[in-house]
Amino acid sequence: MKTVEVREVLKDLIVLRAVDRDIKYFESLWEIPEGVTYNSYVLRTSEGSILFDTVKHGFSEEYVDALRRVTDLRDIKYVVIQHMEPDHSSSLKALSNLSDFRAEVLGHPLTAKLIKSLLGIDVKFRPVRDGEVLRLDDITLKFLHTPWLHWPETIFTHIEELSALMTCDAFGAYSVPPYSISDLTLLRTDYVKYMRKYFVNIIGHYRDNVVKALDKLSTLNLKIELIAPSHGAVLSGADVIKEVLNLYRSWAEAVPKDKKVVILYTSMYGYNEEIIRKLLSAVSKDNVDVKVFRFTSYHRDNVSDFLGEVIDAKVIVIATSTYDNSVFPITKYLLEVLLSKSNAEKPVYLITTYGWNDAASRELKNILMKSKFKLSRELSVNSLLTEADLQKLNDISKEILTYLDIS
Ligand code: FEO
Repeated sequence: MKTVEVREVLKDLIVLRAVDRDIKYFESLWEIPEGVTYNSYVLRTSEGSILFDTVKHGFSEEYVDALRRVTDLRDIKYVVIQHMEPDHSSSLKALSNLSDFRAEVLGHPLTAKLIKSLLGIDVKFRPVRDGEVLRLDDITLKFLHTPWLHWPETIFTHIEELSALMTCDAFGAYSVPPYSISDLTLLRTDYVKYMRKYFVNIIGHYRDNVVKALDKLSTLNLKIELIAPSHGAVLSGADVIKEVLNLYRSWAEAVPKDKKVVILYTSMYGYNEEIIRKLLSAVSKDNVDVKVFRFTSYHRDNVSDFLGEVIDAKVIVIATSTYDNSVFPITKYLLEVLLSKSNAEKPVYLITTYGWNDAASRELKNILMKSKFKLSRELSVNSLLTEADLQKLNDISKEILTYLDIS
C-alpha cells in the first residue's frame, strides 16, 4: 500500500513522508529490508507556502492528495529543490501538470538543466546563489550550496526563525522510524546504524565534501535546533543535534571505534569458514565488537550493511579464495564498492586460500596497495591449514588484540 504520512514537526512546518516498505534495493543496489521514507516539507506563512523537495514517483498521486490536505496548491509560492535525484524531485512532474500549481522553483543553478533532462518538464525556475537570503512574511531562508551531498547541485536551506536546517540526503537514514527523534537514547540504540549505513552507501564516496559542509555550517555559526532530512526522522534537541553533527564528522573522517573489528569472508567449501572460526575464537573477547559478514553457499549478508559497519572499524579482516585464476568474484565486487565508499587508513589482514595458484593473494595485494588501507599481515593457505599456517593465524590474532589494546 502506498502511504504518505502527514505530521506537524513545528508550528507551520509539516512533513509529508512517503513510506516505502516494499523497496528491496535502494538505488537498485543497496539491500534495505528496513525500508525507507522520502520526506517533503511544507512551511506555511501568511504570504504563502514553501515546499521543500517532493517524493519519489510512484507515490506522486498519494503525495499530491496529502499536499492538498495541508495547503491549497495555489498558495505554494516556492518549491525549493535541494537535490535533483528522482527519489526527491520526481513528484515535481506531477505537480507541474496541475492547473492550480503555480509555484516558482528555486534551486542550485545546475538544477534547471536537470529538471529538463530528468523530468522533461518546463517550470518557472530561479537559481539561488550560495548564501542567498529569501524573505517571506516573517520567515528568512538562507540557501547554502553543499556540493556532492549527494550530487553537485545539492543545497541546504536554513530557516532562521525556526533554527531549522533542511538537508535532503545529509543526516538522512534508512528505515521507517518515528517521524521525529529528540531522545539521545533512541538515537543511539535504534537509529544510528541506519544513519551510518545510509551515510556510507550514499554519501561515502564524497566524505571530503561532508567535512567541507560541516566546516561551512560551523563558520556560518547558524543556529540549528532541528535538522529535517529527506529520508528518515526529523532530528531535534540540543543533545541529538550535537551528536549527529559529531557523528557525521567522525564518519566523514572514518574515525575508528576503539575495539571494533569487521571480518568479511567468502567460503565455497568451508575452508575459509574454518579459518575464521579459529580466528574468532581467539579475538572474541568480552569488550571486542566483532562484526562478521559471510558470503557462503548457505548464507549471504547484505553488502549495504557491510559497508555501513566498515567506516568506523579499527581493523578489517578479509578471507577469500582464488576463483577462475583471479579473486573470488563477490570479494572483487565488495572491494570495489568498499574502496569507493570507505577508502580509509585502516589495517587490513588478508587471508587467502587456494588449490594450485594463489592468484587471489596477488591481486588483492595489488588492489590494497593502491588504496589507503594498510595491508598488515597476510596468510596464504594451500587448502588445509598446516602447523605453520596455524602459527601465522595465531600471530594475526595476537597482533589484532594488541592493536585493539587488549592483552
Ligand atoms: Fe535520496 Fe541522492 O537521493
